[in-house]
Amino acid sequence: MNRYELNVHNLPRDVAEQDLAGSVVIVIDVLRATSTICQAIASGAREVMPCLEIDEALAAADAAGRSSVILGGERKGGKIPGFDLGNSPSEYTLEAVRGRKVIITTTNGTRALHFARMAKRVLVGSFLNLSAVVASVRGEARIDILCAGTDGQMTMEDFLAAGAIVYGLCQPIGTFCTNWNMNYMAHAARDEWDLLEFYAEHTGQKLIEHLAIELQGTQGGSNLLGIGLGRDLVDCAQIDRLSVAPALDVANWRITA
Ligand code: MLT
Repeated sequence: MNRYELNVHNLPRDVAEQDLAGSVVIVIDVLRATSTICQAIASGAREVMPCLEIDEALAAADAAGRSSVILGGERKGGKIPGFDLGNSPSEYTLEAVRGRKVIITTTNGTRALHFARMAKRVLVGSFLNLSAVVASVRGEARIDILCAGTDGQMTMEDFLAAGAIVYGLCQPIGTFCTNWNMNYMAHAARDEWDLLEFYAEHTGQKLIEHLAIELQGTQGGSNLLGIGLGRDLVDCAQIDRLSVAPALDVANWRITA
């Protein structure tokens, strides 16, 4: 029987960049960078370019022709002055981004994408495209799920999404994952997700509704509630609303469908 390797890292600093070489890496920043990038691609953005710094994003926009691109992202959760869009998935509509190049910079998410650049493949994961991302990596010999966290701290929202991906990859074998060599965090994340599903089922709540409520108590969730963006928690909890599995083309530094 083939055995595969599956690891969850709660923060980029929990793994060395070069240890991701040869692996398929799924980057997660549920609230909200990777959810927003998935939404932009699903809404028909031609490509999304993730930038580390505001200046870098502005320079890339000037190089491409400012009026031809959409500049998006956040600092401290809010829209960056002079940018077209913030970092809420709901802003990345068909009307706003279809056929356009989106240049985005966020505090933690775009950094995590950059961190994964040595990987064999880099995919953008979220609850919105959970099944699409699981289907896209199934059969790969080694998968690393890289959570962005918030300001150097692990966050429960990313951990839960990582657990949901691990859980999905273990199907239809069941929760024992007999084909996988998993690190401790992969086991723990899967169990956390399992518990959330169990709780939703036994309290008669819909999974998505329960998840949206759970997100309120997470680090990223309470930050967004604090700046009046609670609506984003509901939007980012919509499991499988999108069927895209966006991938980062490292050579050309762009994310496409
Ligand atoms: C980030 O990259 O840190 C986040 O996406 C933050 C946010 O959306 O507010």
